[in-house]
Amino acid sequence: VAEKAQYKESIKKLLKEKNAVLIAHYYTDPEIQALAEETGGCVADSLEMARFGNQHEADTLIIAGVKFMGETAKVLTPEKTVVMPTLEATCSLDLGCPIEQFDAFCNEHPDRTVVVYANTSTAVKARADWIVTSSCALEIVEHLEEQGEKILWGPDRHLGNYIQKQTGADMLMWQGACIVHDEFKTKALVDMKALHADAAVLVHPESPAEIIDLADAVGSTSQLIKAAQELPNKKFIVATDRGIFYKMQQLCPEKEFFEAPTAGEGATCRSCAHCPWMAMNGLQAIEEALVNPKGKEVFVDMNLRKGALRSTNRMLEFSA
Ligand code: 13P
Ligand code: SF4
Repeated sequence: VAEKAQYKESIKKLLKEKNAVLIAHYYTDPEIQALAEETGGCVADSLEMARFGNQHEADTLIIAGVKFMGETAKVLTPEKTVVMPTLEATCSLDLGCPIEQFDAFCNEHPDRTVVVYANTSTAVKARADWIVTSSCALEIVEHLEEQGEKILWGPDRHLGNYIQKQTGADMLMWQGACIVHDEFKTKALVDMKALHADAAVLVHPESPAEIIDLADAVGSTSQLIKAAQELPNKKFIVATDRGIFYKMQQLCPEKEFFEAPTAGEGATCRSCAHCPWMAMNGLQAIEEALVNPKGKEVFVDMNLRKGALRSTNRMLEFSA
């Protein structure tokens, strides 16, 4: 505890000295989220993180999240120093969508508008016409469908299928998945719902379709937090990373939150409702990144940046 308090004090001092700001995702450890809030940074979903970093006047952005979030920040503000507690924090969607294969897939379907989820590399973003996050994907695809466009979607198949069902758009899917959300189990969730008949079910759309079918609210991390505040229920079953409980509990202290069931515990479960890459963000690593950013600084290829900026800006302008 004493050690943690020391790290926090040191980070606060360094943030000021370096004119840096801490931007954290809802899936990071509660102590990191609290520190970001306390120091004038933000805790947010991936779209809001991008916006916040883009608009903030700090010289250095500390991105506590996963690699694609750091890369998005660098694409949007190349003049800033963008550092991460660890550059090894990646994402199964990013890993499962290598640019060479994705490019070949796009080339096979030149008549389709390429719509890519933000959880991807700068190279994949540069190949895309549009970037979306889970908070604006539905509206953007609806808009494209109204224009009569056929879509090539990547990489998350569950989010893609959900949006396809909602909009009726013509979507060809890359078959990626998030290892965390893929673990939620339908039968166990049905049983849990029966046990807590008065609970509302909140689901992130990276979850399988059968889980989404059981939801009372579906949306990005921020949208799920809003649903927890707005729905009248006193109990919630939440199908997303458990890091989100910090903010839900803070905003709704009188409500109860339960983790949606996953396959099992420990060794039998690759990622029981907690993203292993989000978990790599720690106080010590944040302090190190501020003291010596070497090896923790995010760089993107400047040629790719141009393309990624175009597709990312389209999203930011559309959802402004
Ligand atoms: P949000 O955009 O909802 O924050 O989701 C990002 C993410 O990685 C979810 O797994
Ligand atoms: Fe990627 Fe899933 Fe982790 Fe989100 S929770 S960063 S989608 S692996």
